[in-house]
Amino acid sequence: MKYRKFGHLDIQTSILGFGAMRLPTIGHEETNIDRAQAIAMIHYAFDHGVNYIDTAYGYHGGQSEVLVGEALQGGYRQKTYLATKLPVWLAQHSQDFDRLLHEQLERLKTDWIDFYLLHALTRERWYQVRDLGVLEWAEKKIAQGVIRSLGFSFHDHLPAFKEIVDAYHWDFCQIQYNYMDQDYQAGKEGLLYAAPKMAVIVMEPLRGGRLTNPPDPVREILAQAPAPRSYTEWGLLWVWNHKEVTLLLSGMSSLAQVKENIAIAAKAEVGMLTQTELELIERVKEAYLKIKAIDCTECRYCTPCPQGVDIPRNFALYNEGVRYNFNFEAPRWAYHHEMPPEERAENCIQCGTCEEKCPQNLPIMELLRKAKEVLQ
Ligand SMILES: NC(=O)c1ccc[n+]([C@@H]2O[C@H](COP(=O)([O-])OP(=O)(O)OC[C@H]3O[C@@H](n4cnc5c(N)ncnc54)[C@H](OP(=O)(O)O)[C@@H]3O)[C@@H](O)[C@H]2O)c1
Repeated sequence: MKYRKFGHLDIQTSILGFGAMRLPTIGHEETNIDRAQAIAMIHYAFDHGVNYIDTAYGYHGGQSEVLVGEALQGGYRQKTYLATKLPVWLAQHSQDFDRLLHEQLERLKTDWIDFYLLHALTRERWYQVRDLGVLEWAEKKIAQGVIRSLGFSFHDHLPAFKEIVDAYHWDFCQIQYNYMDQDYQAGKEGLLYAAPKMAVIVMEPLRGGRLTNPPDPVREILAQAPAPRSYTEWGLLWVWNHKEVTLLLSGMSSLAQVKENIAIAAKAEVGMLTQTELELIERVKEAYLKIKAIDCTECRYCTPCPQGVDIPRNFALYNEGVRYNFNFEAPRWAYHHEMPPEERAENCIQCGTCEEKCPQNLPIMELLRKAKEVLQ
């Protein structure tokens, strides 16, 4: 295993962190973790040099923290950096911080959390917990040794990211980053902005697994690589290629994946991908982006919709599902959690105002019906 210095802290963490969000389950039931298999996977990772594990209050309906607590028994707790997250959306009053942390310590069977994150910050959520005094509370917990360092994970736009980065002397942040998301959320600009100030942890390096099963046009491009690599290897090495990345989290869901990702980590070096390989990945990105069912150019001539529907955004989500082998899980999540209700396709009343304005002559009303079917 390889290690990198953790931002301004005087510690080294493994470049591969174990993400405990996609543990194997029995019968496709999220809360029913296959304990024996999950513990075997985590122990294999720890025994092969992984020293960082990431969980959260909500993963597997609360059972991920319980499982991780179990896996850390038998001497592993002392050797491992444990990260978990405050579910900021459940904190309505300042007393909630203590209540939630206490519950987490019990689940995790530990007296301290090495890396505590404010989970999935958006600007709005940040203002809410900031105004409830979360930083003052966390500083008290740090002084008591219950929390060792403080960071945040992030799911909003770049300006909000920069604002949160600048609002406090954080030890670390966690951002979604992979070769398809260079301009999404914090993106590359966010990575470069935060890295001089704190450790940066990358989540979703394989876009939740979507990059491991690419469509044919992408396969054809990667087949032209000077040295063959697996699809997983391309995804992970591309992230580790950045000197600004401290570690990446992989949500491994089988022992085979743990073994493969540890083997890939052994090869990883900053700047190891050649110019030819980086250009190949850019071509891969272009090929992915060309795959779309709706040829919307996002010119926004169709807006404003009298009902407030954000037509290009609904089409972008539809195209995203098509792009990743008709997997609509992530677009559906974004539809329900990131879009204000009035902007969703389901609010279209089929008045047709938009169709008169679309320079591409798209049958917008019919396409919104289709988008609604898969996204709702
Ligand atoms: N703080 C936040 O807001 C937040 C949000 C998202 C994630 N996270 C954290 O970040 C971690 C990483 O994110 P992620 O789980 O989305 O990471 P990811 O690496 O992008 O996706 C994980 C998925 O990739 C596939 N995969 C991994 N290794 C593979 C291999 N060797 N071969 C084939 N497929 C492979 C698996 O998919 P299959 O299961 O389909 O095989 C696995 O479930 C999470 O586990 C979680 O701890 C945090």
